[in-house]
Amino acid sequence: MHSNILEKNVPNWLYKKLNFLNDFSSLYKTRPIKNNKGGMLFTHMFYFYLILKNLKPELVIESGVYKGQSTWLIENTLPNSKIISIDIDLNKREYFSKKSEYRSLDFKYNEFKNLPDNTLVFFDDHVDHVERIKQSNFFGIKNIVLEDNYPTNEGDFQTLKQISNNFNFNHKPGFLSLTKTYYQFTKIIIKKIFLSKYNSNIDLNNINQRIRDALHNKETTSHLNDLFETYYEFPPLISNYQINEMYKSPLLQETPKDILEYSDELLDYNFITYIKLK
Ligand SMILES: C[S@@+](CC[C@H](N)C(=O)[O-])C[C@H]1O[C@@H](n2cnc3c(N)ncnc32)[C@H](O)[C@@H]1O
Repeated sequence: MHSNILEKNVPNWLYKKLNFLNDFSSLYKTRPIKNNKGGMLFTHMFYFYLILKNLKPELVIESGVYKGQSTWLIENTLPNSKIISIDIDLNKREYFSKKSEYRSLDFKYNEFKNLPDNTLVFFDDHVDHVERIKQSNFFGIKNIVLEDNYPTNEGDFQTLKQISNNFNFNHKPGFLSLTKTYYQFTKIIIKKIFLSKYNSNIDLNNINQRIRDALHNKETTSHLNDLFETYYEFPPLISNYQINEMYKSPLLQETPKDILEYSDELLDYNFITYIKLK
C-alpha cells in the first residue's frame, strides 16, 4: 500500500509545477558541481527550487551542506534572502558562498534570534526526521523541507514516512564504523574522568548520530499530524524501474528533450517532502 498516511492540504502553488521546469533547467546548467554523487541531483534540486520560488522565505536555513550544491541553489534562486548553512563537517565544501553564514554546530544547538515568520529550514543531514520536526517547532519555524524521506526498510536513518508506518529505524553500521565509534566513546569517558569542566553533550550527540537507532512510540504519528498544516511528498519526475506501490505516479510521462542529458540523474529520487507546521 502507498504509505502516505500523513499527506494533507496540498498547497495550490504545487499545481503550477511544470511552469518552472524550463527556468530551472537553464539555471541547473550553470551549477558549480557537475558530479554531485551523494548529494542533490536534478529532481531534488528542481523541487527545492520550486518550493523556494513559491514561498520566497526571507531566511533559509540548510542543514547538510556537503559540497555546497544546495547552498548555490538557494543563493541563486533567492538572491535577496539570508542563508544559514550548517554542516558538522564543513570540510567537504567545493562551492563557497560569500552570502551564506556557515555554522558547524548541529541545528538543535544553534541560537536563532528574530527569525522572519516565513523562515524555511531544509534538512538534508540524515538526522531523525521526528527530532528535526520537534526542534523546528521549538524554534517556531513553520516551513520545513525534508530530503530522503525513505519508506520502511530503506535509507540510513529514521524518516517520517517510516514512522507513519510505526517503523522504528534500526541502524546497522559496519564493523569499522562501530570500531571508530567505540574509540570515540572511549575518548569521551577518559575526558569525563580527567577533565572536570568537560561537557560531553555535543560529543555524545555525535555518537548518537553514528549509531542512528530510533525509538518513537505509537502515538508519534498522531502527535505529528496535530502539528502539521500541510504534508506533501513530491512525486518522481519520471518513471523508472524502481517504481512500485511505495512511489507516487511520476510527474512527467516522457522526459522532455531539453533535460534528456540528465536522464541518469532523473532516476535518483528520494521522496523529497514539504511540511508546513500550524
Ligand atoms: C546528503 S549530504 C548533503 C547534500 C547537499 N545538501 C547537496 O546539496 O548536495 C549530507 C551532509 O550532512 C552532513 N551532516 C551529517 N550530520 C549532520 C548534522 N547533524 N548536522 C548538519 N549536517 C550534518 C554530512 O556531513 C553531509 O555533508
